[in-house]
Amino acid sequence: MSAVVEPPFADVTEASITLLIDRFYAAVRRDPVLAEVFEATIADEEWPEHLATMRRFWSSVMLTSGRYSGNPVSVHRAVRGLERSMFAHWLVLFEATATELFAPEPAALFVGKARRIATSLQLALFHRLDAPPDGLAPPAAVASGR
Ligand code: HEM
Repeated sequence: MSAVVEPPFADVTEASITLLIDRFYAAVRRDPVLAEVFEATIADEEWPEHLATMRRFWSSVMLTSGRYSGNPVSVHRAVRGLERSMFAHWLVLFEATATELFAPEPAALFVGKARRIATSLQLALFHRLDAPPDGLAPPAAVASGR
């Protein structure tokens, strides 16, 4: 009899990524903050394709499989209703799902990658030279008007 693999997963594999993606986006679609934006962008019949894209994306990120090719920045630029404040919430939900399914070490790897990608997406989408990111003071010369 072959062994049944159950969470918590110690290994990141295509199969465990699939489970993470399915569970995370099921939670997203029920989420009071995120559901509206996702449902407005992705029609019911488009969800299987979105999930397949996300599996390829995380496979590329975690397993360097090269299965994803795309441009997340330009895709997110076109997402109507996407607000900067939603990223923190997205990350909390992602972290909860990853922690539920994976052993602490691989869960931390997922979360670390997600945080870094979320930060670079936010900078690409929302950063303006005249409005420094939250918590960053403008350079002294600018602040003093010199
Ligand atoms: C505020 C948080 C976020 C929201 C509301 C959001 C929303 C969306 C939506 C609606 C789509 C589908 C766009 C379409 O098919 O037209 C999408 C695609 C995608 N998202 Fe996000 N997203 C968020 C954060 C993130 C983060 C943090 C990551 C990565 C860690 C990510 C990775 C992706 C990728 C890879 C795609 C597919 C891009 C492609 O089609 O090639 N998203 N997102």
